[in-house]
Amino acid sequence: MPGLVEDLAHWVGLTRDRIDRLALQPSLEQIGRVMRVGDGVATVSGLPETRLDELLLFAGGVQGLAVDLGEQAIGCVLLGDATRVAAGSIVRGTGEVARVPVGDALLGRTVDALGQPLDGGEAVAAATFAPVEQPAPAIVERDLVTRPLATGLLVVDAMIPLGRGQRELIIGDRATGKTAVAVDTMINQRHSDVICVYAAVGQKASAVAEVIASVRQYGAPERCLFVVGEADAPPGLQWLTPYSACSMAEHFVAAGRDVLLVIDDLTKHAAAYRQISLLLRRPPGREAYPGDIFYIHSRLLERAAKLAPERGSGSLTALPIAETQAGNISAYIPTNLISITDGQIYLDPRLFNEDQKPAIDVGKSVSRVGGKTQAPVLQALSESLRLEYAQFLELEVFTRFGTMVDERTRKVIEHGRRLRAVLRQPQFAPLSLGEEVALLLAVAEGAIDDLPLDRIDAFRSALAGWLTEHCPEALALTEHTPALDLALKARLIAALRALAGSVSG
Ligand SMILES: Nc1ncnc2c1ncn2[C@@H]1O[C@H](COP(=O)(O)OP(=O)(O)O)[C@@H](O)[C@H]1O
Ligand SMILES: [Mg+2]
Repeated sequence: MPGLVEDLAHWVGLTRDRIDRLALQPSLEQIGRVMRVGDGVATVSGLPETRLDELLLFAGGVQGLAVDLGEQAIGCVLLGDATRVAAGSIVRGTGEVARVPVGDALLGRTVDALGQPLDGGEAVAAATFAPVEQPAPAIVERDLVTRPLATGLLVVDAMIPLGRGQRELIIGDRATGKTAVAVDTMINQRHSDVICVYAAVGQKASAVAEVIASVRQYGAPERCLFVVGEADAPPGLQWLTPYSACSMAEHFVAAGRDVLLVIDDLTKHAAAYRQISLLLRRPPGREAYPGDIFYIHSRLLERAAKLAPERGSGSLTALPIAETQAGNISAYIPTNLISITDGQIYLDPRLFNEDQKPAIDVGKSVSRVGGKTQAPVLQALSESLRLEYAQFLELEVFTRFGTMVDERTRKVIEHGRRLRAVLRQPQFAPLSLGEEVALLLAVAEGAIDDLPLDRIDAFRSALAGWLTEHCPEALALTEHTPALDLALKARLIAALRALAGSVSG
């Protein structure tokens, strides 16, 4: 049996010396064998006591998770390189579920779903480990969502406001700016104390590198963590990524922190899970997804919560992303996700092509929780905005047919166009609350109604500098400011009119 002893030595990581010594004291161990292996899954026999989601150790050091328990064999997803696992080789049960390192040591790092570094740095020196699957907080442990999560995107903060502890789906076709919305939200947290966790599932390595680079450049990377299961990672690792990221995030939440979790994206996650399930020969259901596809997403997103004061008042805000085909939001995975979350931000390729970026279709987007959390100064200005904007869009379509319009209608349309231009925003330039209030006030008071449309961008980029000089109190507004006081409002309007005058020429 020399081969067996060598094998043992390999996966236990002991030297032959110690094995010889240990052999003197007999011990009982359950050992199974790999029956079939390939494409990131393996079937194992001879481990009858394995429990669901138990971590298994394969010869060669590869780890796997038992996801399918049968009488004769167990189906297992591999969390490492499948080519290192051979049919007939030994498998050992651990009696443990998969755990990941958690804690401050992770901040600023890029890791995979098992907490192994992907940034070329040293192993994460964490003192604590947490299971990747954890039950969601119970009802009594939860509190109402009361504080806003500022995205720095005017269109979102004004019309689809998010709250800390909310779950908001970002949905749209490919290349409509979904990732960009999430990244800008992460970047905007440089002015808050929110910790950001970005989970990349099935994304191209180049796209992930771009996200990390932008957050490093514009955001607060020391408060960010990237958990990556890229497109060429084993499907098991991709599938595990959002759960691991969520456990890492929950550690901070338990310590009373506010955490933002971006999952980019759950469509790819569903595809990885479908692949695993089909390879394990589970019966396929609608669109060939396994029957529990709804449950795997709801049990993940239910972990987002605002915790009650007895639990430390932390919050986990989830921004899952879903990709649609040709705008079809009634496909299986999108409808599932829409029903699980507290609203959605819908990105429209038509708006994107018209250069209205962020390409958010306000009419199809909704935030079912965040409205009550909006900063009072912003709320006062955005109350009737959705309605006003919808009416303008309708009116504009109507007048496209060359209808003669009266002076009043023409004014309404010109005003609406100013509003639409103000909602346009470049990437990596999130606005502060003061700037958002100023922009909405400028629209509401008609301060930019006479400004040519192509000067609005100049108006927006000059705004922060201008206010610093002419109305610095406006930039000091916070989510706690009860209302804009009249004197400040008058000063701000005067400053905005002056700025409009100075950029118009
Ligand atoms: N607000 C914006 N202004 C300008 N360009 C943008 C904006 N949002 C996104 N883009 C660009 O659009 C492209 C697609 O965005 P991305 O977020 O990767 O789309 P998705 O995640 O939906 O596939 C990227 O090249 C990005 O730089
Ligand atoms: Mg993307």
